[in-house]
Amino acid sequence: MFIKFYKNRCDLLGKILKSNLHNYIPYKLNYAVTYCCNSRCNICNIWQRKRSLHNELTLFEIKKFFQINKFSWLSLTGGEPFLSQRLVDIVKCASEFLPLEILNIPTNGLISDEIVEKSEQIIKYQIPYTVITVSLDGLHDNYLNIRGIDGFNQALETYVRLYYLGRKYKNFKTYIAYTISPLNVGLLRDFVNDIHCRLAKNNIDFNLSNIHLNVYQDSDYYTQIKLATDEQHNFYSQAVKEIEWYLKHREIFNLFDFIEKEYVKFYKIFLQGNRLPIQCLAARSSFFLDPYGNLYPCINYLTKICSLHDINFDLGQIDNLLLKKLRNIIDQNNCPRCWTSCEASQSILGQLIKLVL
Ligand SMILES: C[S@@+](CC[C@H](N)C(=O)[O-])C[C@H]1O[C@@H](n2cnc3c(N)ncnc32)[C@H](O)[C@@H]1O
Ligand code: SF4
Ligand code: SF4
Repeated sequence: MFIKFYKNRCDLLGKILKSNLHNYIPYKLNYAVTYCCNSRCNICNIWQRKRSLHNELTLFEIKKFFQINKFSWLSLTGGEPFLSQRLVDIVKCASEFLPLEILNIPTNGLISDEIVEKSEQIIKYQIPYTVITVSLDGLHDNYLNIRGIDGFNQALETYVRLYYLGRKYKNFKTYIAYTISPLNVGLLRDFVNDIHCRLAKNNIDFNLSNIHLNVYQDSDYYTQIKLATDEQHNFYSQAVKEIEWYLKHREIFNLFDFIEKEYVKFYKIFLQGNRLPIQCLAARSSFFLDPYGNLYPCINYLTKICSLHDINFDLGQIDNLLLKKLRNIIDQNNCPRCWTSCEASQSILGQLIKLVL
């Protein structure tokens, strides 16, 4: 057990370093397990998508995929991942066949009992760094305005219950995922103060280190609100001010805090100049997989690489020329260009380790 723990960790470090190389297969998978969603967010159109439950990858196929391709980091997203009846089985499969170091799952937190119950089952698979973020980006009325339904109390309750699981299990942590958007920009400080007061009753010292920050983007994956150029400019400059406040007050306790803060720092650069702060390693360090088995470089660059069915679930069989071409496009900033947490951490880590070694 002890040896396996260090072997997997060294394996991950090696993969992060190799992700800078051209011919390397990614070590992280961003997998949208379902496009079903029980929310009605105004910042995201996933809940409006046509979806086809019977075309989602089967457990048998997922097992085959994990048996062949050795990811160290799995991010299970959606839609609402906890609506997938197979979520726990997917994690079970991953824990059996992958040298997993990190598992992260975002949730809207609306079905508290089911989320907490499934989370505890997931945590028990002992993936060393298991993280579940609860999306909560506003207080009552603001939440309703952003998310289209009255779910603030449920989402907060889910966060509190997961937080207690974090006290019980060493391999687990939860955060609130707060997306700064045109519908809440400027309200982060009030949000943190309010939640701090509410959770003090539960013996929880809530502060900025309990928040995972994200900024609204207008992309093919999420699009809802369409901003005119001057509105976007205005939104970005307000978001930058909010980020500056965050950076001033956010403390660092460990490597993950450091990466989170770097990621937000780079967000500021991105919003100020609409340019990527560092080279994006999507398609080198990670792929995005949709519920039906279609593979893409990332969630925002939706040029299909292939269907897993076409390559017999073996990433080693991807057309190398196509992959090279996509990587070049990304290197030259000819992809949609974004700064998103789904890809940023690997890009920061890849370049950090390259600098240190
Ligand atoms: C797509 S959701 C999927 C998981 C789950 N349904 C949830 O809401 O947490 C993942 C994260 O993306 C964020 N998000 C939604 N719309 C976005 C947008 N337009 N730009 C950036 N992030 C967005 C959500 O707030 C959430 O934290
Ligand atoms: S952000 Fe999450 S909860 Fe909201 S519509 Fe998108 S997938 Fe659903
Ligand atoms: S910069 Fe954004 S859109 Fe381009 S490849 Fe990276 S994550 Fe995808």
